[in-house]
Amino acid sequence: MFSLKGKSAVITGGGSGIGKAISLCFAKQGAAVHIIELNADGASETVQEIKAAGGNALAYGCDVSRQEQVLDTFNQIGSVDILVNNAGIAHIGKADTTSEEDFVKVFNVNVKGAYNCLYAAIPLLKKAGGGVILNMASIAAVVGITDRFAYSMSKGAIYAMTLSVARDYMADHIRCNSISPARVHTPFVDGFIAKNYAGQEEEIFEKLSKSQPMGRMGKPEEVANLALYLCSDESGFITGNDYPLDGGFIKLNN
Ligand SMILES: NC(=O)c1ccc[n+]([C@@H]2O[C@H](COP(=O)([O-])OP(=O)(O)OC[C@H]3O[C@@H](n4cnc5c(N)ncnc54)[C@H](O)[C@@H]3O)[C@@H](O)[C@H]2O)c1
Repeated sequence: MFSLKGKSAVITGGGSGIGKAISLCFAKQGAAVHIIELNADGASETVQEIKAAGGNALAYGCDVSRQEQVLDTFNQIGSVDILVNNAGIAHIGKADTTSEEDFVKVFNVNVKGAYNCLYAAIPLLKKAGGGVILNMASIAAVVGITDRFAYSMSKGAIYAMTLSVARDYMADHIRCNSISPARVHTPFVDGFIAKNYAGQEEEIFEKLSKSQPMGRMGKPEEVANLALYLCSDESGFITGNDYPLDGGFIKLNN
């Protein structure tokens, strides 16, 4: 079960955190993994780990917010069966404390970046006779989280894009779903704690862990396991859905 043998899987942001765990997992299941990354060092570390374990992977330096770079990268990749739109950036702020520059930056990476990859990948998925798209949303798409205005906006867009794409390409045998994690312990989390709460790192880490009823953050591998199911043939009847992976955050936080 859950074999990805013979599949070409494109994973954005595969040089760190959740994208890295998905890349390692998909390669272990037999996929040829193509990592699209801004951070070339991170991407080549993931590729080295995959190759050392006997897998097949390539890294492509690319900014997903730049359409010409994305088109050029997919052109090099050539054939795609699975696209995981995972690359994303965090941001802290409310509507009246988010600068225009920050708003546009979050939009360009988290929303336009996903669109750019859809734009480039869908013709290749059609050519392959179908395939799977998995988008990384967040619980912030459906729950009001304090101080996450721009980020929540971007993940709400991902949630809606998933529905639109699932509907539009059903006849092309392309399935599209999303995962909405609550807090997952990755460099993304450590980075924004360090940047926004300098000197209070431990306290904030504890607070963020306890905001999940299970009392801990998720692990990147736990997201990868669900990603594998949603991108494998075993989930063939699932499309147009979002899957919270949240330690009880959405429904048990009372
Ligand atoms: N960690 C969490 O708590 C959490 C929770 C919910 C959703 N998510 C989402 O999961 C995804 C991955 O998060 P993570 O925690 O693994 O983050 P991370 O920062 O550890 O990894 C993200 C990767 O994306 C890459 N990236 C950023 N901008 C890029 C760009 N313009 N072009 C190409 N690559 C780019 C980064 O270089 C990095 O390697 C994000 O979309 C994030 O919003 C994370």
